Amino acid sequence: MCGIVGYIGSREVSNVLVDGLKRLEYRGYDSCGVAIMEEDGPTLVRSVGRIGNLEEKLRGIAKTGQFGIGHTRWATHGRPSEDNAHPHRDCTGRFFVVHNGIIENYLALKQGLIAAGHRFVTATDTEVIPHLIETYYDGDFEQAVRRAVQDVEGVFGIVAMSAVGGRSIVAARKGAPLVLGLGTGENFIASDVPPLLPYTREVVFLKDGEMALISNDNVELKDFHGRSTPRRSETITWSAEMAEKEGYPHFMLKEIHEQPRAIRDTLAGRLDAAGNVTLRNELGATPAFMTAEQIHIVACGTSLHAGLIGKFLIERLARIPVHVDYASEFRYREPLVGPKDIVIGISQSGETADTLAGMKEAKDRGAFLMSICNVVGSQASRVSDATIYTHAGPEIGVASTKAFTTQLAALYLLALHIARERGALPPDEIRRHGQALRAAPDQIRQVLDLSPMCESLAARFAKYPSFLYLGRGIQYPIAMEGALKLKEISYIHAEGYTAGEMKHGPIALIDGEMPVVVLAPRDSVYRKTMGNVEEVKVRDGIVIAVATEGDNEIEEKADHTVFIPEASAFIYPILTTVPLQLFSYYMALQRGCDVDKPRNLAKSVTVE
Ligand code: AGP
Repeated sequence: MCGIVGYIGSREVSNVLVDGLKRLEYRGYDSCGVAIMEEDGPTLVRSVGRIGNLEEKLRGIAKTGQFGIGHTRWATHGRPSEDNAHPHRDCTGRFFVVHNGIIENYLALKQGLIAAGHRFVTATDTEVIPHLIETYYDGDFEQAVRRAVQDVEGVFGIVAMSAVGGRSIVAARKGAPLVLGLGTGENFIASDVPPLLPYTREVVFLKDGEMALISNDNVELKDFHGRSTPRRSETITWSAEMAEKEGYPHFMLKEIHEQPRAIRDTLAGRLDAAGNVTLRNELGATPAFMTAEQIHIVACGTSLHAGLIGKFLIERLARIPVHVDYASEFRYREPLVGPKDIVIGISQSGETADTLAGMKEAKDRGAFLMSICNVVGSQASRVSDATIYTHAGPEIGVASTKAFTTQLAALYLLALHIARERGALPPDEIRRHGQALRAAPDQIRQVLDLSPMCESLAARFAKYPSFLYLGRGIQYPIAMEGALKLKEISYIHAEGYTAGEMKHGPIALIDGEMPVVVLAPRDSVYRKTMGNVEEVKVRDGIVIAVATEGDNEIEEKADHTVFIPEASAFIYPILTTVPLQLFSYYMALQRGCDVDKPRNLAKSVTVE
């Protein structure tokens, strides 16, 4: 995710900003920039790529300054480029803004501002903010920022500075974190703790709906209506490494816990409060969806598992046949793909060689090519006719977690979009599904409370050499994903099977030493799955069930039951995944494995 740093004080501003941005590098970024206020006016310097490029540019320009703001951008709206890099300006070049998050209503705001005569020079959602500040500025900068944030819907952490109206920085938070660092005769603001650590450990975390007016020797907190919200600072004791992980011991655990936020970002601007779905920004009025005879999904690893769930969702909701292929197989099997087909490449990184090769194969055969991808501007998105970004934020742990669940949310949106375009579902049913999706982030939060239970299960099972994961229907790919997660980070053999297939072979493995993880939420195949639980139990197998809250029947039969909240059937895969991620994580810890960098694996596999 993007990073923010701001400083006001007597140190050399550019040094503090650049140093702060470097301490945010771990968050991932594709471009960066700073705006520095000098005696004779503001200086804006931005660059694509590494912070070293920015430093290089700064070397030739201004050094000192009085205050300034900086940003590392991880693209969400608009490709990585110097123009799209923050800070962004208004038409007059007086107001500068850096922003983390997503502005859901930016298109409507942008159209209104353009109609009022504003000139836009970037493809970002952020640029509406400086123009709104310009609109509202009447000599009071703080008031202008306040009115601007009141117009903005979505998630934001905003830090703004002005070349007029005094020596101050104004910050505002709704959803995206901002933290103040308090010094003597100087103050700091950042999206995260690491940039503050060399200077101060006295911090104030902004709350949602709060603004901060920051000057050299004062920090004032107010709500979005201008009412004061005073608060004491706290002293943090984190090391730099702990701060990067926001206090979590590993990136993987941090990323598991980020899932409610990540899914909310996937849905932002695509799903309204009533449950209406729109992917028009990404897909336009694509005729391919009206005419397509079949859809092919190509992907690898965890993304392939998301594709299998996508098949289920698209076939059920939009009624088009969907074929899912391992990308490494697709290109070599002379696939029956042509101009009447849609091919979707799913890839977190957008750089996986096998997936890219499969996508190229589809393009060569004339298919309409789409991608579902987490990295804006990646190769997958560049070769595609259309891309749905998952907006999960950078995923650093090699084991994919939040990228997977956001892919599921994006596929659910896509299935509903196609269903609407083709008239396969009535609007009220689409809205019912949309509302179920809106509930998912809060339901995941409840599942995350199961962490201690997953940890104690891991302590109990860490020495077992082999696991079977079973699921039916939409839970079958989750069984495969659970097994993959366990394999890749704890190096324990595990297999994911469709529960109905067990009797055709794997049942021979079942004995008193065989743990079987059964995914059995109360959905349409629940009864059938219960039959498989019986089959395991009569052979003395150990059943660890993931089931719906209040299911006493399974609790009596299984040896251990992890309860997830009751949800709509198509949301269950997102919820059942989370305890499996936590279980694998704690198993890896128990076995002393390197959770974030498992042996032999790379975050993105760019070779065939
Ligand atoms: C997931 O935990 C894996 N590390 C791996 O299977 C991964 O999903 C696969 O390599 C595909 O990566 P991509 O989504 O970036 O294309």
